[in-house]
Amino acid sequence: MNTLALKVFTALALILLVESASEDQKRYDNYSVYKIRHPNQLQRQLLHKLTKQHESFSLWHESREEIHLMVSPQALPELGKYLNKTYARSNMFISNVQELIDNEQALNMKARFGPTVNWKRYNTLSEIEAWLDDILIRYPGVTEGFILGKSFEGRNIRGLKISYKTGNPGVFIESNIHANEWITSASATWMINQLLSSADKQVREMAESHDWYIVPVLNVDGFVYSHEKDRLWRKTRQPSAISSCIGVDPNRNYDSYWMVSGASNDPCEWTYAGPHALSEPEIKAMSDFVSSIKDKLNVMLAFHSYSQLLLSPFGHTDEKVPENYDDLMQVAKAYGDAVKALPYGTVFRYGSSAEILYPVSGSTKDWAYNEQDIKISYTVEFRDTGKFGFVLPPSHIIPNAEEALAGIEALLRECKKLGYLQLKYKV
Ligand SMILES: *[C@@H]1O[C@H](CO)[C@@H](O)[C@H](O)[C@H]1NC(C)=O
Ligand SMILES: *[C@@H]1O[C@H](CO)[C@@H](O)[C@H](O)[C@H]1NC(C)=O
Ligand SMILES: [Zn+2]
Repeated sequence: MNTLALKVFTALALILLVESASEDQKRYDNYSVYKIRHPNQLQRQLLHKLTKQHESFSLWHESREEIHLMVSPQALPELGKYLNKTYARSNMFISNVQELIDNEQALNMKARFGPTVNWKRYNTLSEIEAWLDDILIRYPGVTEGFILGKSFEGRNIRGLKISYKTGNPGVFIESNIHANEWITSASATWMINQLLSSADKQVREMAESHDWYIVPVLNVDGFVYSHEKDRLWRKTRQPSAISSCIGVDPNRNYDSYWMVSGASNDPCEWTYAGPHALSEPEIKAMSDFVSSIKDKLNVMLAFHSYSQLLLSPFGHTDEKVPENYDDLMQVAKAYGDAVKALPYGTVFRYGSSAEILYPVSGSTKDWAYNEQDIKISYTVEFRDTGKFGFVLPPSHIIPNAEEALAGIEALLRECKKLGYLQLKYKV
């Protein structure tokens, strides 16, 4: 084939791939996303009421300052009415969600012609797993695979332990518990690669003086579903006994102040906590695994997107704060300062969930803190703050991952200074 023919052929193959991939996927044509600023109590209530119509509205983000709400084109007049009636201050920041998804998919397909896992695109679960297998072969002395357990659909939930020597404090990284937050597993895999292969002195020092337990994709069923059927799928995939709506918000399903606050008992909502604590096999598996090694863990980090926040306990109440609250703030500040110092200048805010976001109970960081005695425990909400939201273009993967690495390095340094990295077990 000559070059032109090859180009045409490649272009055609690309189109075919994009089309076959998107054949039976849920579409978000002309779905828009609105930012409602400084909502008052009434506005908040009304917007929450709207999200009960789950086909038309989804709550992308909620904090004390802002609500981000996705709306179908059919329901737009209804939203307009509410916004007008309550004098809400709002603006649209995404006019067509499908366009973002299409752009992402085209880039994913284009980058696919290169070598596997290259962080220029978002990888599927099977690609991530093949890459993990490769890592285990390439770094046999210092890596070890582990399996948390099986998902509802019977998939293995895999993790990687990295340990250069005995007697290290342990850091656990949970990622992609929310299926649609693809930037989390992309960043986690990039970090694994850095921990194993970086020649940078500081990175080597950090990599080799901690034991790492990293689960790149915890919600495996949801992640596969988000790749194959619905880009915005967030929850697990276990059906409900009381509703036709599928799945549970796994980050409300841990057994710690379950359903106390900021969680829903409506299976159709994004924050459905499940029929009971640990109802989801993925969360039960994670819970059992972490309990079994909790003496080895000093730090728990749960990767999420989006909103550029470091959230510490408590989530279930804003009426009291953890006893080491000041330390948690100091450590979070170190993370934020390190990220800000990079050339991108990205700003991360920090505080307890109940303070800066909203009450939320049954999440990983609260469970790890309250029930597993891991006193350094955060939710890390990655880029951005509401331009692309969950559909963050792949060009952000490496910058975001660099921020995570620099942030975690600073966080661990601060933890050490404050005495949080002392061993809880006998070597
Ligand atoms: C989306 O909106 C555009 C502009 O209003 C319109 O031309 C197009 O048909 C709409 N697409 C769908 C699938 O409804
Ligand atoms: C909201 O108010 C604006 C300005 O008063 C008006 O132009 C617009 O049509 C209203 N929208 C709805 C959906 O009522
Ligand atoms: Zn999340």
